[in-house]
Amino acid sequence: MTMQTARSTGLVPYIPDNAPFNEEQRAWLNGFLAGIFSAAQPAAVADTLPSLKIAVLYASQSGTAEGLARKVAKGLKSKGHIASLSSLEGYTPAALAEERYAIFIASTYGEGDAPDAVQPFYEKLCVEHFPRYQDLSYSVLALGESHYEHFCKFGIDLDNKLASLGAVRLHDRVDCDVELDEVFAQWKQGLYSRLESRRRSASCQKCPVLVRHNFLT
Ligand SMILES: Cc1cc2nc3c(=O)[nH]c(=O)nc-3n(C[C@H](O)[C@H](O)[C@H](O)COP(=O)(O)O)c2cc1C
Repeated sequence: MTMQTARSTGLVPYIPDNAPFNEEQRAWLNGFLAGIFSAAQPAAVADTLPSLKIAVLYASQSGTAEGLARKVAKGLKSKGHIASLSSLEGYTPAALAEERYAIFIASTYGEGDAPDAVQPFYEKLCVEHFPRYQDLSYSVLALGESHYEHFCKFGIDLDNKLASLGAVRLHDRVDCDVELDEVFAQWKQGLYSRLESRRRSASCQKCPVLVRHNFLT
């Protein structure tokens, strides 16, 4: 059955038994097709996309970065991702190396430093000299106030340190001043759309035949 026929008849296409797939691949593909062609089509397509496991990490002293991090984690969950929320207080570079996606929301204090409780994490990260985060995609939202000499410096330093350790920027860092609502909304939007692209390409890697034959367009 062609995809065109399936759409016009409402019948669900399937992978025939003699197609060149093993049982597991056939089961996955049939599930995938069933999802796409079920009655509730748009929701079904979203359901077939894989969830990404994403760590939302914040460096906060008076709560602003923490509040924004909560919103990001909630937003990611509502999009079907598996999002965890943690303070960088007590967090370790080793734990970060286990992650594939990390979102940082970091405020600046002192002479352009991390919030007090986060300094141990950053000191440990600075001891690392060799790339070990090649598998990590990340983005930093830096919080600060532009009347300070070292505007958003901790967020900037953290972003640069992660890049120097091999991590890949999923979305460029954005620096927020006191009026941050609009900037935050734009960064969040950009971040979500990058994650959506990653999720779609992760889905396509699982299903190379459908992509190769352009069945999904
Ligand atoms: C004592 C103090 C020092 C600060 N130092 C800086 C600074 O050096 N650079 C900067 O950009 N912002 C600085 N800020 C502003 C904070 O980073 C900003 O208000 C941020 O939104 C606070 O986030 P938080 O509530 O998550 O801690 C400072 C704020 C305070 C109260």
